[in-house]
Amino acid sequence: MRQHHRTPRLLGTLLLVAVAGLSATAAAPAAAPAAAARTATPLDRVVPAPASVRPGGPPYEITPATRIRVDDSGAVRRIGGYLADVLRPSTGYPLPVITHGTGGVRLRLEDGPYGAEGYRLDSGPQGVTLTAREPAGLFHGVQTLRQLLPPAVERKTVQHGPWPVAGGTLTDSPRYAYRGAMLDVARHFFTVAQVKRFVDALALYKIDELHLHLSDDQGWRIAVDSWPRLAAYGGSTEVGGGKGGSYTKADYREIVRYAASRYVEVVPEIDMPGHTNAALASYADLNCNGTAPPLYTGTDVGFSSLCVPKQVTYDFVDDVIRELAALTPGRYLHIGGDEAHSTRHDDYVKFMDRVQPIVERYGKTVIGWHQLTGAHPVKGALAQYWGLDSTGAAEKAQVAEAARNGTRLILSPADRIYLDMKYTADTPLGQDWAGLVEVRRSYDWDPGAYLLGAPASAIAGVEAPLWSETIVTDHDIDCMTFPRLPGAAELGWSPAAAHDWDTYRVRLAAQAPRWDALGIAYYRSPQVPWPAR
Ligand code: ACM
Repeated sequence: MRQHHRTPRLLGTLLLVAVAGLSATAAAPAAAPAAAARTATPLDRVVPAPASVRPGGPPYEITPATRIRVDDSGAVRRIGGYLADVLRPSTGYPLPVITHGTGGVRLRLEDGPYGAEGYRLDSGPQGVTLTAREPAGLFHGVQTLRQLLPPAVERKTVQHGPWPVAGGTLTDSPRYAYRGAMLDVARHFFTVAQVKRFVDALALYKIDELHLHLSDDQGWRIAVDSWPRLAAYGGSTEVGGGKGGSYTKADYREIVRYAASRYVEVVPEIDMPGHTNAALASYADLNCNGTAPPLYTGTDVGFSSLCVPKQVTYDFVDDVIRELAALTPGRYLHIGGDEAHSTRHDDYVKFMDRVQPIVERYGKTVIGWHQLTGAHPVKGALAQYWGLDSTGAAEKAQVAEAARNGTRLILSPADRIYLDMKYTADTPLGQDWAGLVEVRRSYDWDPGAYLLGAPASAIAGVEAPLWSETIVTDHDIDCMTFPRLPGAAELGWSPAAAHDWDTYRVRLAAQAPRWDALGIAYYRSPQVPWPAR
């Protein structure tokens, strides 16, 4: 279903810029008075909305004398260093990271009711203190602190202050542990640097899972030593016929390391038994007829399948999963399982019955697209739901039943949270097979109540996938990701009671000057009251 014509990219980009310009003129409120820029951002003007905010008292101000005080532990020191790296270029202040003294910006770990990722922020004239039980909580707290400072703090050259942080207390922790985004590096290949840039964008909004779609018909993107032609040949092209690419194991370890430094876990996906043309083209043996098909650079889906009856298929899968699991400190390994239209249903079930235990044998938890619920998901497996509001009742019921039987769900409804869907008919990039997904539609649903018959406790979280049939550059990634990603992040993080489009759109609008400062492009949806720029 994902195939669509490709919009010429340069023209598309120009159109997007033009449309953005028009909507800015149409929707922008009057410019804020200069004085407003000097007042502190209210504690509740944060995305995702914090769980609880108690404003009060005078602000703290970061000055040339401010020090970043950390616990004497490697993890907390590193988070302090990360914060200093954000603040030093724009403030021009030295901001030493030290383990003694009083006041300033304090990062500390403490046993308390913060959970694995929560934190508390206390701000007053003497300083700002972030307290958490785990380093991940401190890291998320640092993201909140960034948003409480003026947007110019994100610039890479010295800016005028002042740098106030509003007074009060903010207590925060996530609704769901799984808050993901996916990057399809198979349809178009993205370099390690591009993936890191994407990780930095996720971290801003407390997203903690990066799902990498590492293989598809158009490309195999990860080195496998025991099957070297997968990357060398299967990775040699991409949609549109470009040269593609693949990650060496060292590249991949670097992505995993960088993501971990942002408290993001990498979830690798090898999509099987369909979406496998790149593998089938690389090794004739993997084909039922023993003949390798040519490489594929179009955007059709559903035409390829691993050969379910052949033993070599499972030798291949075992090798791939063993090597990938060895590269993966994270808990999960995603085996795809969507759109296996060229695999008979009984073969699909047999395949999944054999492949899921391989994932378990190498110590990982299975994730599959929700078609896995039509087979026999192993105990502990997660199913990623990518249906639409209009998906048939029987298919939804099958997923809900699996959820009642213990399969946990990651919600990625395509007509809500797919980042590659066009916003409007005029959006130059992206696809529309799931519909047009404007910012409000993308935000305005409740993961806890979304799938009829699935218990709320079965929802592991949400994930926003970015498929890359039409996505080539960082600018392309940005324009589809922003401003919808922060909404997905809020659905994953904020309490259901905080969900409110009218207040969200105001908080979202306030993010735009930060994106400008960070060099992140975005779609200026007319649904959002963006400040003039
Ligand atoms: C999918 O969009 N085929 C998971």
